Amino acid sequence: MLDPVPLFLAPMAGVTDLAFRLLARECGADVTATEFTAASGLSRKDTKSWAKLETHPRESPFIPQIFGGVEEEMVETVRILSESADVIDLNFGCPAPKVTKTCAGAALMGEPDTLVSMVERCIEVSQVPVSVKMRLGTGSNNINVLDIAESCAQLGVLRVCIHGRTLSQKYRGVADWNIIREAVDLLESYGTPVIANGDIVDAKSAAKCLERTGASGLMIGRAAIGNPCIFGQIKSKLGWNNYSAPWSNQSEVIAKHWAWNRYVDLVDEVGGPRGARNMKQHAISFTKGLPGGKEIRPHLHSIKDFRKIGEPLNLAFEKYAKGESNTLANPEAIAMAQSIYSI
Ligand SMILES: Cc1cc2nc3c(=O)[nH]c(=O)nc-3n(C[C@H](O)[C@H](O)[C@H](O)COP(=O)(O)O)c2cc1C
Repeated sequence: MLDPVPLFLAPMAGVTDLAFRLLARECGADVTATEFTAASGLSRKDTKSWAKLETHPRESPFIPQIFGGVEEEMVETVRILSESADVIDLNFGCPAPKVTKTCAGAALMGEPDTLVSMVERCIEVSQVPVSVKMRLGTGSNNINVLDIAESCAQLGVLRVCIHGRTLSQKYRGVADWNIIREAVDLLESYGTPVIANGDIVDAKSAAKCLERTGASGLMIGRAAIGNPCIFGQIKSKLGWNNYSAPWSNQSEVIAKHWAWNRYVDLVDEVGGPRGARNMKQHAISFTKGLPGGKEIRPHLHSIKDFRKIGEPLNLAFEKYAKGESNTLANPEAIAMAQSIYSI
């Protein structure tokens, strides 16, 4: 049996809102972080940017993730944030052009001196540990993650998370777990844990990634979208604990049904004014891969008041899970959705 390691929910903009992070934890994730937030806005005390860094006492440790291309802004943000955060995560992995054009995110992998200097100064001003999340480099002819990760380890970062792709790959191709293994071996002498990220989609791939990389933790992103139960499922299947949840050992649809309703409850509980903003997107994601998902999605899309989306999706799941219908697109659920969007 593989020794248990912590499972991380990957930070994902537009996905990992507070309610979803709390849900992922209830489903077995050990560590969560906020989506990335611009240091340019945070350092100027912009209210909208600060609202993205909401947390809750049940989310412990609280790990805000920040990005930026201007050292002073990153340093100032870390200084302010370190009064409330448990760990601060610096993003050197985002490939989005609107981020990389300001020489932030993964573009900084192309400016290793700037990146390392930024990490050094952030650590200097921070009252709490600083972690980093990075890619392999900017492209296949510039794979420099080992040098950068080693410099970060020498500076004393808490951990290094590596997404096994380059900036130019974006999300294409296959994550290279072999380079992550090299980083694990290299950073061992510094005592710096490496978290492996990229293409972990179930217990089988989690086990493979762990065997291949020897990482201290595994981070899961896209496979958790619409399927937060993946964390508990991996733990159960790998025999890591007696993970028990209302949906343990139940079918995929029962697990998703439970998780969807729990997400709706958590949005009510902790959502605040911004809490429901991702609700429609999550509703769509929860239907993916299930019979009738494709047919019910347009009806969910048509609902303007996305706070009301919970009920028709609940009904769709309920009838399907009870065996009263063999599709999520059952007439009652569709009629309920129509009655909401026709008001
Ligand atoms: C919709 C979406 C949003 C993302 N936003 C962030 C982000 O805010 N910060 C970050 O470090 N990575 C972000 N990522 C990258 C993921 O954290 C992760 O590194 C990547 O998806 C690879 O892991 P996976 O193969 O498990 O999905 C995002 C990915 C997706 C799909």
